[in-house]
Amino acid sequence: MTGHRATAGRTTVSTIGTSASRRGPSWRLVWLVPAAIALLLGLDAGLLLLGVPAPLTTDRLPDVHGMLLVLAFVGTLIALERATALGRWWGFIAPALLGLGGILLVASPVPLLVAKVAVIAGAAAFTLLYIPLWRRQFDAPLLAQLLGAALGLCGAIIWLAQDGMGRVVPWLIGFLVLTIAAERVELARITMGPRAGGMLLAHAWAVTGSLVVGMVLPDAGAILLGISLLSLCGWLVRHDIARRTIRSTGATRYMAACILAGYVWLAVAGIVLSFGDPSANQPAYDAVAHAIFLGYTFSMIMAHATTILPAVLHVTLPYRAAFWVPVSLLQLALIVRIWIGDGLGYPVGWQIGGALNVAALLLFALTAVTSAILGPPKAKEPKASASTKQATAPQPPRDRSKATALSPDHLDHPERPEGTQ
Ligand code: HEM
Repeated sequence: MTGHRATAGRTTVSTIGTSASRRGPSWRLVWLVPAAIALLLGLDAGLLLLGVPAPLTTDRLPDVHGMLLVLAFVGTLIALERATALGRWWGFIAPALLGLGGILLVASPVPLLVAKVAVIAGAAAFTLLYIPLWRRQFDAPLLAQLLGAALGLCGAIIWLAQDGMGRVVPWLIGFLVLTIAAERVELARITMGPRAGGMLLAHAWAVTGSLVVGMVLPDAGAILLGISLLSLCGWLVRHDIARRTIRSTGATRYMAACILAGYVWLAVAGIVLSFGDPSANQPAYDAVAHAIFLGYTFSMIMAHATTILPAVLHVTLPYRAAFWVPVSLLQLALIVRIWIGDGLGYPVGWQIGGALNVAALLLFALTAVTSAILGPPKAKEPKASASTKQATAPQPPRDRSKATALSPDHLDHPERPEGTQ
């Protein structure tokens, strides 16, 4: 019965994917508009928080920076992908509400309270979206993602009663860490073995438990969260196929490098948290927030963008060597910001690193749009034989058995059969 439901769900997604890819870009591109606004204004707000010149200044922007980027941007993207996987019109309510929440957050005439309520509604719809997905498949990674979304919802609710973000950030960390880790586990079922689901859920509950403890005992909660993240990171690194595919070439190596860099930043956040509640210590707070939200989350997004966006939006987004530039810049900027700025205590390093972070993200978006417009790079094969030509010729869009937010790089790993995620 479970298997039957799982198969039914996958058929729905793959049918959407194949037919629409023949028709051109999907109407789902519309959802990128509020997400892009949230990204651009969130980055602008980041510059304001750094105290450096920014294109747009409003009183409210610095207060909404975190929510704009975590729930209104990343949340909208993941909800859009999950709604695509569900294949029901009502699934798209979640990205719509999260996107609307982002717009209201920056629309100054709208009371902030109203915007916060819209974000809560979006996070609630997003959490509910996982229920039919889980009933379809009954598997541990989906349950961990459901839990992650619920943590994001808790963060949005806690924010309603707070002016600052100090008590909210750990919940947003829980949301993104669990969502992305579960996606990696979905991929590595074969290499991780049958106990992988149980291990993932044990970590998911440890993260959740530490957040609950942190409500009453902030230091103890932070230390527990740090230990949980370190344990999760160690376990993921041990099993992730990226450790092997880093020795590969082209897109596969690029993805592996991004994924491994993401794990390094997850470990950095875990280490800093193990020293206690960072919210009272500005450099530690900045280091933890951006090791997770930029280092871990955006490295993973950059890793998977060329496989996820085509599956969801039905646009061709070919990998090009140029993608290495923004990814390397992101890593360099984070080292400057977190090590020199936060760690060694040079505010100018924090500002330069932060500004370079903005440049890296914008450059990545520009590279992606340019690559989509240019289409697949032309193959260089003047002396190729007929059989080689056939093997290297551009392939038609592949039918995906399942679209996941940060995952389907199994297509780059021949040793991992399709449908085994
Ligand atoms: C790319 C350039 C970015 C810059 C320059 C930047 C800058 C900042 C600064 C200066 C702070 C305040 C830190 C403090 O008070 O010590 C902050 C906080 C925060 N940032 Fe960023 N940030 C960036 C990207 C991101 C991204 C991509 C995310 C999420 C995906 C994010 C999420 C947060 C959160 C949740 C907080 C804590 C909330 C708050 O204090 O307002 N940031 N950021």
